[in-house]
Amino acid sequence: MVSIALPKGRLGNKAYKLLEKSGYTVSELMDESRKLVFENAESGVKYFLVKPSDVAIYVEYGAADIGVVGKDILLESGADVYELLDLGIGKCRMCVAAKEDYVEDTGRPVVVATKFPSIAKKYYMSTNREIEVIKLYGSIELAPLLNMSDVIVDIVETGTTLRENRLKVFEEIFPVSARLIANKASYKFKEKEIATIVGKLKEVTL
Ligand code: PRP
Repeated sequence: MVSIALPKGRLGNKAYKLLEKSGYTVSELMDESRKLVFENAESGVKYFLVKPSDVAIYVEYGAADIGVVGKDILLESGADVYELLDLGIGKCRMCVAAKEDYVEDTGRPVVVATKFPSIAKKYYMSTNREIEVIKLYGSIELAPLLNMSDVIVDIVETGTTLRENRLKVFEEIFPVSARLIANKASYKFKEKEIATIVGKLKEVTL
C-alpha cells in the first residue's frame, strides 16, 4: 500500500480530484468529516490529510510515501525528498510586492515581511541586497500598509489581494505549482507502485 499526504483545503481537493481521475478513489474523502486517514485497500492507497506546510515533513520522515505540495512550501522547507512530477495545479507566482509608490532606499537593508524567510533571503542574496526579515503567518499584505515593512515576499495568484490593498508586484521570483514528491527510501522500495501512480497521474495532468 502507498500512503499519500495531501494538503487540507483548496489544493488538497484539486489534488484528490486528479488522483480520483487516475483511479485512486476513496469516496468518503470529499465528505465533510474530521477524519484524517482514508484507505482503499483495492486501489492500494491510503491518504493522510495534513496542514499544507507539513506535507514535505511527513514525506521526508517516511510517515507518508508520497505527497502533494506547492513548490513554494517545498523550497521553503528544504526537505530532502524527490520531486517526481509537476501536477499543473495550484499555479501562482512568488513575488516581491510593495505599495504602488514604493521606491527602494539603497542606503539601508530592505525590510521584508514574509511567510517564506528562506526564499526571501536566498532571492535578495542573489541580487546582492541586504534585508531584514519579519516572519509572519498570514495577511502579509498588511505589513507594508502599516509601514511595518518596505515590501512583502509572497505568492500572488489572481492579484486581487494586492489590488484591493493598493499594492503592486515589483519583482517576480519564480512560478509556483503543486508537485508530487516522494520519500527517498519509499521511492526505492515501492518503486513499482509509485511508478504506476506517477504514470496514471501523467495521463490526467497532460
Ligand atoms: C495567499 C497569499 C496572498 C493571497 C494571494 O494567502 O498569501 O495573500 O493568497 O492570492 P490572490 O492573488 O488570488 O489574491 P492565503 O489565502 O493563503 O491566506 P493568508 O493570508 O492567511 O496566508
